[in-house]
This record gives sequence, structure tokens and C-alpha cells, in this order.
Amino acid sequence: DNLLVSKHAVSEDSDNQVAMMQLNRPKALNALSDAVLDDVLHAAHVLDKDPTVRCLILTGSAKAFAAGADISEMKTKNFEDAYGTDMFGHWQELSRLQKPLLAAVSGFCLGGGCEVAMMCDMILCSKSAKFGQPEINLGIIAGGGGTQRLTRAIGKSKSMYMHLTGEFISAEEAYNSGLVAKVFPDDELMDETLKIAKTIASKGVLSVQAAKEAVNAAEELPLQEGLRLERRLFHSLFATKDQKEGMAAFLEKRPADFS
Ligand code: CAA
Repeated sequence: DNLLVSKHAVSEDSDNQVAMMQLNRPKALNALSDAVLDDVLHAAHVLDKDPTVRCLILTGSAKAFAAGADISEMKTKNFEDAYGTDMFGHWQELSRLQKPLLAAVSGFCLGGGCEVAMMCDMILCSKSAKFGQPEINLGIIAGGGGTQRLTRAIGKSKSMYMHLTGEFISAEEAYNSGLVAKVFPDDELMDETLKIAKTIASKGVLSVQAAKEAVNAAEELPLQEGLRLERRLFHSLFATKDQKEGMAAFLEKRPADFS
């Protein structure tokens, strides 16, 4: 009940699909309870292994992508519960999928919600989106990667400002800061996200996987290591049919038919 999953054909003449996961806990603004997160992780793993699925989307409702971890579930936890179970450590699995995962954000995208969006490979949002790390108002700090990923995404000063004041930023500011890739009018977000996902799904599977791996490595590796990884992945793609097809199609002035 907490998650609706749908699949969308990439085109009429193809078996390839885009899979959409929609958080569905409207009464709590999609607060990420343990049950919600378990459903997301389970669905994401299944879809990641499904050979017909080429790209995944994670979205929420018009009012909220997700308003954070579930405060009522955390309220009574003590240090032993939190540290002893490595609370939220397993959320990171979402950032380790092989297939691209797009976050489509409307409304509130706060705390753990913002952190989950940042675990996705890119964030697309509507004009109503609001991003924030308001954990400071609860006497805690971000625990799902916010201090690290937001700082890498928008720089230290803006990230520090958001973590220390708890204030939200608008879609426009998120776009100008590089947190999101595109901003759309609210009623166009889902159609535009599907279009982007279908575009990605029409490319070669292995080149998409390699591009995702290389770009994500830029967040973790020193420059020389990242450049070397990129080059090795680039070299390895010369072993694929898609490289032969992509280059032949360009020279023959026809669309590529990637396998
Ligand atoms: N956890 C549990 N319930 C939540 C929730 C959350 N994070 N956010 C909202 N809700 C619930 C509210 O309690 C309320 O429930 P009831 O109707 O039963 O009272 C319902 O959702 C609607 O919320 P509001 O009435 O507050 O709606 P609003 O429009 O007035 O305000 C809001 C919206 C500004 C998002 C406000 O709900 C809010 O500030 N939410 C909490 C945001 C937050 O602090 N997030 C960080 C959580 S900690 C975290 O995420 C840790 C981490 O790093 C992993």
C-alpha cells in the first residue's frame, strides 16, 4: 500500500519499459517509515534485475515527495537502538543500483526525503518543490547522507546554511545551485520525467550503465582515479555491439538501433 509500481512501454515496437515507483503515504506526507523504505528497496532491487526495465523513476505526490524519516517512529529510540542497528545505513542500497534512477520531486522534499532524492542519479522537479534538511529543528542532524551529498551538490556554504538554519530552498534555487537537473510546471513533471526516462531507455544498456558508474564515481574518487576509471570503462565499451552500431549509424546517417 505504501508504494505504487507501474511500468510504461518505451515505444510501441519495443519490449523495453520504464518503471515508476510512487510513494503513497499521503496522510504523513510520504514520511519514510521503516515499512515504506523496505518497500522502496525491495521494489528497486526487483526492478533493477528485471531485464525489460531500462530506467527507474521514484516519485511522490503533488504535495510531497517525502517529508523526511518518520518522526513518530524515531521519537522513542535511544542511542543503543540507533547505533546498535546502524539506523538508516541500509538506505544507501538505493544508490547502488545498476540502472538509472530518476527522482521526480513535487512539494516537500525534506530531511530523509531530500537524502533519498540525492541517492537517485538525477533530480527533476516541479516549480512547487521545496528542498530542506530541517533535522536541526528536531535536535538531530541529517543521517541519510545529507551533510555529504548536499555539500557535494551545492557547495559548503549553501549546504551549511540549510543544515544549520533548517530553512527550505525553492525549486528555482535548487536548479541554480545544481541540485536538480530540470524544473517543469507542476502539471508537466510526470510527462516530462517519463520522456527523459524513455530517452535514456532508448540508449545502449551497457553505455548507460558505464556512464552512470563513471559519473557517480566522481563523487567518491580522487581525480586521477576517476579519470582512469572513466578511461577503462570507455575502452571496455569498444567490446560492445552498441559501439559498432552507434558509430555505423552515425556515418550512415540513420538512427542507431541499440541491442
Ligand atoms: N514524520 C512523521 N509524520 C510526518 C512527517 C514526518 N517526517 N512530516 C509530516 N508528518 C505528518 C504530520 O505529523 C501530520 O500528521 P497528522 O495529520 O496526523 O497530524 C501530516 O503529516 C501532515 O503534516 P502537517 O500537518 O505538518 O502539514 P503542513 O503542510 O502543515 O507542514 C511540513 C508540512 C512543513 C512538511 C511539516 O509536516 C514538517 O515540518 N514535517 C517534518 C519535516 C522534517 O522535520 N523532516 C525531517 C525528519 S528527520 C530525518 O529525515 C532524519 C534523516 O536525516 C534520515
